Amino acid sequence: CGIVGYVGSRPALNIVIDGLRRLEYRGYDSAGVAIIDSGVIQTEKKAGKLANLEKALAERAADGIGTGTTGIGHTRWATHGGPTDRNAHPHLSADGRIAVIHNGIIENFARLRAELEAAGIEFQSDTDTECAAHLIAAEMRALRESGAQDGPALLAEGMRRVANRLEGAFTLLATDVNVPNAVVAARRNSPLVVGRGNGENFLASDVSAFIEHTREAVELGQDQIVLITPEGIEITGFDGSPAVGKEYHVDWDMSAAEKGGYDWFMLKEIAEQPQAIADTLLGRLSERGEIILDEVRLTDQDLRDVDKVFIVACGTAYHAGMVAKYAIEHWVRIPCEVELASEFRYRDPILDRSTLVIAISQSGETMDTLMALRHAKEQKARVLAICNTNGSTIPRESDAVLYTHGGPEIAVASTKAFLTQLVACYLIGLHLAQVRGVMYSDEVAAVVEKLQATPDSLRTLLSRMDDVRALGRDLRTASTVLFIGRHVGFPVALEGALKLKELAYMHAEGFAAGELKHGSISLIDDGTPVVCVVPSPAGRGVMRDKVVSNIQEVRARGARTIVIAEEGDEDVRQFADHLIQVPHTPTLLAPLMTTVPLQILACEIAAARGNDVDQPRNLAKSVTVE
Ligand code: G6P
Repeated sequence: CGIVGYVGSRPALNIVIDGLRRLEYRGYDSAGVAIIDSGVIQTEKKAGKLANLEKALAERAADGIGTGTTGIGHTRWATHGGPTDRNAHPHLSADGRIAVIHNGIIENFARLRAELEAAGIEFQSDTDTECAAHLIAAEMRALRESGAQDGPALLAEGMRRVANRLEGAFTLLATDVNVPNAVVAARRNSPLVVGRGNGENFLASDVSAFIEHTREAVELGQDQIVLITPEGIEITGFDGSPAVGKEYHVDWDMSAAEKGGYDWFMLKEIAEQPQAIADTLLGRLSERGEIILDEVRLTDQDLRDVDKVFIVACGTAYHAGMVAKYAIEHWVRIPCEVELASEFRYRDPILDRSTLVIAISQSGETMDTLMALRHAKEQKARVLAICNTNGSTIPRESDAVLYTHGGPEIAVASTKAFLTQLVACYLIGLHLAQVRGVMYSDEVAAVVEKLQATPDSLRTLLSRMDDVRALGRDLRTASTVLFIGRHVGFPVALEGALKLKELAYMHAEGFAAGELKHGSISLIDDGTPVVCVVPSPAGRGVMRDKVVSNIQEVRARGARTIVIAEEGDEDVRQFADHLIQVPHTPTLLAPLMTTVPLQILACEIAAARGNDVDQPRNLAKSVTVE
């Protein structure tokens, strides 16, 4: 979910709505606002995208909701309770005084709800959040009855008491109708940053919501309460002790987050991939082609002590991890396991001080990945994050971080984040091999040279994607699309299928090319499209020939084959109903090329089916619940 809060002297509504627009990628099942104005809380909330809320607000412009200078807003990715108007945030306390918005899950909500219902409160929604509104109101009432005065301090104390009763992960924001000019927030394991303005202050899930207004941000720790008023920012721990946030300046540019002439953010981000790869490499290679990763705060000795690598990640980042396994085991010659972050800790993985855990996450906020890294740290493993978002939770809690420098990624389906994660994994693999002396420096330099050539090759590839787009339009009515690949082509097949499922809402599945014949080949019927990722004949020729055999197997059963192969591999043409040629790259680096046509294919099929490419149904860019 995305969260915004504002206090100051300007009308809050527009500032809150603009902030929500920037955060909509975090969830778009519903949206809502609460604005405080002259002793009244005005709320509006609507299921569906932010546009629905804006429409509802435009219809009631006359009643003055636009004038209050204190406000909170929310854009939701549903957990408890369906995506309806009624379950949209904000939620109000029964006395109508307190409005609350929330990101996360209150795990003990059933118990709290039962307790509140027993005390006579009638719930207006099915959410876990509503409990918090009733509880804050009750705590404040009790404090007033024992003599406390209404005001920002009382609101903060009410929030603090409630935060201590909640279990789970949450960012909660609350306002009180009788306390204008104050918004209070509590943070446990969910993202929240403060924006420091001049006579105004902001709260948000990430800085993009307020950088139009201020670039001065304050980072909060876990289990903290922050009270913002136009004059100041006051941070305390859940135990009430004063705390200090970490002040920082935001240096990225908002124009980077605009669509730049493309129909979709996704297309813009696909086009940015050559530059993004170059940015990931920037400053990390010496003139002699060695890897310099000084910023990774692990000593060479730490890296020499590593005897096993574990990669944890979710979604697309997990596929990057799968590719990394091939590269790391090949180059570094130590075992590397890859695991879905949500499964990792439940398997009792065997870790110790000499295990290096690599957590890959674009957003740095994915709760499953965060929990996996905490589990790894409890077992004394060293954790290295690969992340695209400065200052996010995952790199903060890791021992070391390699930022991908991919720039903001807005489209929910990950593209440039994936390629830059791959590059970061290659750099780490080569660095480990170099430090441990398993690769000579000229061998490392040879791979580096190939890596440096990938942005140009990718530019060439991107300039000739018209056929792929036409093919996408043609495939829009397919009922299923299968993807096969071997070695690093296998994760590429999985990623191609994931993109199609995410965007086109179409059944798609990726397979290891050799595994298909052990069962799933029975899915193939006359005309079933099968995308086949063919390895370079220059690398391991045998592997390429095996995939060609697999193509023949599916073809013999009626499949329509869409073959992705390297330029110059003319022999494969006879097995391809459609041939997509990509520039030559060494086998391990090939996913930097072969993934790209699959991104474009999925985008085109989805657009041809009339779907919202940037914000597919049911998804969110950053999933901060487990
Ligand atoms: C969400 C997104 C996916 C993404 C995954 C991991 O589910 O919809 O596109 O791959 O999270 O995100 P992360 O930010 O950790 O890379």
